[in-house]
Amino acid sequence: MIAKKYQDILSKAELYVLSYPGNFECMNFKPMGFEIKEENRLSCMSLKNERFYDLLHSLDSLAFGPEGMPMDKWVFYDCGEMPGGVVGLGVRAKDLGEEALKEYKIDADYEGLVPISMYIAIPMANGEWFGHNLSSANRVLKEAMPGLGLVTKALALQVFQIPTMLGATQWDSKALEIHLQLSDMELLSTYTPAHSYKNTMTYKSHYPLAGLEEALSGTKREAKDWDYLHPAEDEAFSRKIQERIEAGERFKIVGRPIHKEGETFYPIKKI
Ligand SMILES: CC(C)(COP(=O)(O)OP(=O)(O)OC[C@H]1O[C@@H](n2cnc3c(N)ncnc32)[C@H](O)[C@@H]1OP(=O)(O)O)[C@@H](O)C(=O)NCCC(=O)NCCS
Repeated sequence: MIAKKYQDILSKAELYVLSYPGNFECMNFKPMGFEIKEENRLSCMSLKNERFYDLLHSLDSLAFGPEGMPMDKWVFYDCGEMPGGVVGLGVRAKDLGEEALKEYKIDADYEGLVPISMYIAIPMANGEWFGHNLSSANRVLKEAMPGLGLVTKALALQVFQIPTMLGATQWDSKALEIHLQLSDMELLSTYTPAHSYKNTMTYKSHYPLAGLEEALSGTKREAKDWDYLHPAEDEAFSRKIQERIEAGERFKIVGRPIHKEGETFYPIKKI
């Protein structure tokens, strides 16, 4: 049973998916029993959806612009929509507040769906998946919807039918509250010079349906026992653990971040 705050979001917002239609047959259009109606199953190759592509681009800019990592539209198309897809929640333009209408640059004549959250996942060559983007417009909504980011990722994993997924996240990202509410994260890298931000970790998580339901039950996933705490902002620390991973050790984060005296730490267990 999912908690009331997530049910409320799903009663106010509509699920959508945008992808290459050839991918649709691999998707579940009724994640956790919540249906993606036919009109919201959108092709990324259709003129009809031209406005929606721009709105997704605006959502990405308002989420990742302040992070310094906004995407070009061709990246959406080549690296997200065609190989994988975008899944999220949207509301009708008339139900958005003034600030959001301005942020999205929505014309007065537009009455269609406006994406207020999205999750993008991309299949990998070895059959696993890579989580590419999680965005939520909570910051600019007239009435914020606490839980929007979390419920979006949980449902998207079900739409894409992803049992195991990799992703890359900055150690100081607030999204780790969401990733760790959904599952433990095995650390494949803790310091990643190949990324624009070196203090990025690469993780692998398992997402069985029972775990996703538990994540949405309203109970916070606290860490029970850990071997050490990883400081979010300490690059030298991240680099040291990276050296140990490359020497063959394995680690995972076993619960939500711990906040102490203005700093964030992650509970890590050696495996
Ligand atoms: C990160 C982001 C997706 C969060 O979206 P959101 O809709 O505000 O998140 P939710 O409301 O679902 O929050 C889920 C949990 O995270 C916590 N959380 C969210 N933002 C937080 C913040 N800034 N500080 C501390 N905790 C936070 C919430 O309290 C909530 O926990 P709870 O359910 O126990 O109360 C959104 O802020 C965003 O788009 N950020 C910019 C892009 C980005 O960094 N994406 C992630 C890349 S990996």
